[in-house]
Amino acid sequence: YDNSKQGSIAIAKTIAALIKAKEQENKPCVLGLATGSSPKQLYAELVRMHREEGLSFKHVTTFNLDEYYPIDADALQSYKRFMHTNLFNHIDILPQNIHIPDGSIPKDQVKAHCVAYEAAIEAAGGIDLQVLGIGNNGHIGFNEPGSNLFSKTRLITLDNSTRLANSFEFTSVSQVPRLAITMGISTILKARKIILMAWGPLKAPVVQMAAEGAVTDHVPASLLQHHDDVSFFMDTAAATELT
Ligand code: F6R
Repeated sequence: YDNSKQGSIAIAKTIAALIKAKEQENKPCVLGLATGSSPKQLYAELVRMHREEGLSFKHVTTFNLDEYYPIDADALQSYKRFMHTNLFNHIDILPQNIHIPDGSIPKDQVKAHCVAYEAAIEAAGGIDLQVLGIGNNGHIGFNEPGSNLFSKTRLITLDNSTRLANSFEFTSVSQVPRLAITMGISTILKARKIILMAWGPLKAPVVQMAAEGAVTDHVPASLLQHHDDVSFFMDTAAATELT
């Protein structure tokens, strides 16, 4: 796409078509969602489609990829807050259909919470479409380099490069939580369809490695090459290093 807005609109159209197709089958549509700067225009377009074109999210269930740990649910930087501010507050999704890993639970409950998160995805019928961004180090969700193919929802230590990349949301890098709860690589690969979005020149090297490089857990996004239905949506700047 010429720019991220056009790419985001194209993803929004894909999502809207899926929601409508599932509605016709009388089935809920299960979306896996990401946070960060990459999906902001996508969410703005979905909100616009809801307001202006009557796109309904009443039969949509969502599972977010990740959340910082520990973090207060209403902290400015929490992904729960991000999702409500950028999407959920402006559409007709039912609150009980929203799922985001809980970054505010005590540590001794995290393991059970992660197991329950996987079970909730299964109970919802699995994820129809997973939306992903990509970290400069190749992470998807917060599956940092070294995350393996079989990983599930779990607590993970954030890379320093990730904490640095996300520090602009906090007062300083030392305020960025050291841990996060993230869906695993296997959780992501179980989605029936995957869309990864990458905008801007900074993503060009990692997109090239993920799409055309070796399949290795050093670049977790390269593990997507194992999946049969993955699309990368990019602007021209992010695509410059593809051969
Ligand atoms: C966030 C997430 C991360 C981001 C990635 C890119 O939920 O899963 O993998 O997608 O860190 O972040 P941005 O879009 O801010 O460049």
